[in-house]
Amino acid sequence: MFGVTAAQCDWFNLELKPLLAHNMAGKSIPSFQAADLVFQLLSSSTRETTADVSTFGTCFTDHMLTIEWSVTEGWQPPLIKPFENLSLHPACSSLHYGIQLFEGLKAYRGDDNRLRIFRPMLNMQRMANSAKRACLPAFDQSELLECIRRLVEIEQDWVPHSNQGSLYIRPTFISTEPTLGLKTPTRALLYVILSPGRPYFANGGKDVSLWADPKYTRAWIGGTGDCKMGGNYGGSMFAQYEAVHYGCEQVLWLYGEDHKITEAGTMNIFLHWINEDGEEELSTPPLDGLILPGVTRQSILDITRKWDEFKVTERYLTMAQFCSALKQQRVKELFGSGTACMICPVGLILYQGENLHIPNQEKSSLLTTRLTKELEDIQYGRTASDWTLLV
Ligand SMILES: Cc1ncc(COP(=O)(O)O)c(C=O)c1O
Repeated sequence: MFGVTAAQCDWFNLELKPLLAHNMAGKSIPSFQAADLVFQLLSSSTRETTADVSTFGTCFTDHMLTIEWSVTEGWQPPLIKPFENLSLHPACSSLHYGIQLFEGLKAYRGDDNRLRIFRPMLNMQRMANSAKRACLPAFDQSELLECIRRLVEIEQDWVPHSNQGSLYIRPTFISTEPTLGLKTPTRALLYVILSPGRPYFANGGKDVSLWADPKYTRAWIGGTGDCKMGGNYGGSMFAQYEAVHYGCEQVLWLYGEDHKITEAGTMNIFLHWINEDGEEELSTPPLDGLILPGVTRQSILDITRKWDEFKVTERYLTMAQFCSALKQQRVKELFGSGTACMICPVGLILYQGENLHIPNQEKSSLLTTRLTKELEDIQYGRTASDWTLLV
């Protein structure tokens, strides 16, 4: 530890090392267990299931899952209890320094009336990764998933009876350290809340418009762009505000002097095009630390690679490459992907004062239409798949 003071050494050994050890220990991670779940449930007469799903994320179910952790006592038994406000110390370091993270996944009611959660272990892995980066303690991912499954089971009546609706699951993990000193958390709270809803389209299901200006950066090499931490989102609000000012719905996040295309709003981005060598290609940026490893992104890559009908690549494209492909009519489709909207076609990019219109083909021949159907068939149980967890 050359160049590091004794105090920093103590801090590393006493506080950070145990956390990192938890994260790297594999099987021996000290964790809460789903078998220890404690239930404090509302009586059925006091439960309400009238869901207002008109605005994303404003309506919540009756119960929540909470799990407390402290460095001295470790993980406490998980608790499913009535949904209620949190009581936090005003100095709590998640509020001051953004030591927190979250996840987003969905449960769907299938045509057979059974509930399925889509690829939840990918969310658990991403959450564990974000926790490691935030110096929050590790947990057993399967145990958390089982606690979530039990919560969804209890709240099953809230899952919409519609082949458009779903129950959005929001795991959240915050430091509850009651001090203004910036330090590795010694107390934390992991909680999960549920919100029924319809798919979230920024533009009511129409093609979305994007404002692309390199003056704002969502993420950078060495930063936390690949983690789902609140600060990444709070820090993007001003650019979003400016996008709306210029008449666009979302931001197309560019990176570097060559204006690499990275993500769109809170979605991963895909270009279906004819590349410089005349080959049909589906490209999305690589997972190099800038990009959030989206579950929908991974699913699109897995599905299209299995089709094996065109080249599928994880590589950066610059705005110059995109503009020249557009000019030469080599762009088939540009689209965003994410749990909230699943697949969202892009119709326009405002870049350097120019409106770049992305041509619309026949809906039925579009890759986005085909992918949406393939994904929905899995989510709603029309196609058997090991990607879903039955509740
Ligand atoms: C920045 C960002 N990129 C991509 C995604 C898409 O990820 P996922 O497909 O897991 O929802 C999200 C949404 O979570 C996001 O916030």
